[in-house]
Amino acid sequence: MASDDALAQGHGQGRKRWFGGRGSTSAAPQQEGESNMAPPADPAIEEVSVPAEPQPGVEHNDEAAADTRVEPEEKVAAPIPVPPEALASLRARGGEQSDQELQLPVVISIANQKGGVGKTTTAVNLGAALAELDYRVLVIDLDPQGNATTGMGISHRNVEGSIYDVIMNDAPIDDCTEPTSVRNLFVVPATIDLAGAEIELVPAFSRELKLRRALAQISGSYDFTLIDCPPSLGLLTVNGLAASDDVIVPIQCEYYALEGLGQLLRNVALVKSNLNPALDVRGIVLTMYDARTKLAEQVEREVRSHFGAKVYRTVVPRTVRISEAPSFGQPVTVFDSTSRGALAYRELAKEVSRGATRRAG
Ligand SMILES: Nc1ncnc2c1ncn2[C@@H]1O[C@H](COP(=O)(O)OP(=O)(O)OP(=O)(O)O)[C@@H](O)[C@H]1O
Ligand SMILES: [Mg+2]
Repeated sequence: MASDDALAQGHGQGRKRWFGGRGSTSAAPQQEGESNMAPPADPAIEEVSVPAEPQPGVEHNDEAAADTRVEPEEKVAAPIPVPPEALASLRARGGEQSDQELQLPVVISIANQKGGVGKTTTAVNLGAALAELDYRVLVIDLDPQGNATTGMGISHRNVEGSIYDVIMNDAPIDDCTEPTSVRNLFVVPATIDLAGAEIELVPAFSRELKLRRALAQISGSYDFTLIDCPPSLGLLTVNGLAASDDVIVPIQCEYYALEGLGQLLRNVALVKSNLNPALDVRGIVLTMYDARTKLAEQVEREVRSHFGAKVYRTVVPRTVRISEAPSFGQPVTVFDSTSRGALAYRELAKEVSRGATRRAG
């Protein structure tokens, strides 16, 4: 329990970093998704820019530097607006929240409308690591790309019922749940049908609460339900947020890391005030940390300085093993159980669960 207590001191104080290995290619700046909930621009917004002081060129600060990767010229991210009230609530709740024991069951959306920041990777691997800790875990694939589904070894072709049927046809969620090769880990798969749901939901009655109602049928059956949200702020993501107790936001340690975060936080605030008063941002997880670059360090420093205790101490390294695992239909904790990526997601699972008492089973 001692280590759990130590973790409960707040994510931001100190950190455990599993340094990135031989990196893959650098990520290009991503396009932000469209929002259909975007509030009017707020003139009283706080400007946050990342990184604050760009460093020219590559600086290798890790022994894993032997790589042919060419670092693009460093750029400064455009200042991004983060609403002060969202920042304030994030800062204030960090320490307070981390002192309390986590109450299970809990439903957590993994959300960020930026594409390719590690949402699916985090949903699958955090889910698998929580299942290893003997929690009963359900991953809901809420993205028409279906990457969480395939990443957990479920072929789209063999899916009988999917999250589309749950949301659009009121199919019982239990009938659409598949076991995975990991004990305690289950998935509600997504197929490409789900792409249509974003439009088909528009005229539907109570369209934002479809998933929430479906999850009420299985309340208490799983300790953790993780919802892998799509890279947009459309109705599917709103359904995910409305059904959740908490949100975990993965942030990629790359250029424009915080771009769009203000928009996401605004949408979380809108869902909280209109649909789901219980909703909060549980934490921010830094992903794809490439220890060889100064930039990753700068992004981490910036994110921690803005969001303090909300940022998990565990930093997920950029590793080839993490990126290879989905093509084998396995979480990295199974694919290469002792790899740095697996260790990182296990540490993250300890931080997220904080030794909470299991309920389901
Ligand atoms: N820590 C990591 N190290 C190396 N590769 C990673 C890591 N995390 C994610 N990736 C790879 O980066 C790509 C994007 O990751 P992922 O699919 O998890 O992001 P996403 O936010 O779910 O994307 P989308 O917005 O399209 O749903 C994938 O190819 C994944 O394998
Ligand atoms: Mg994804």
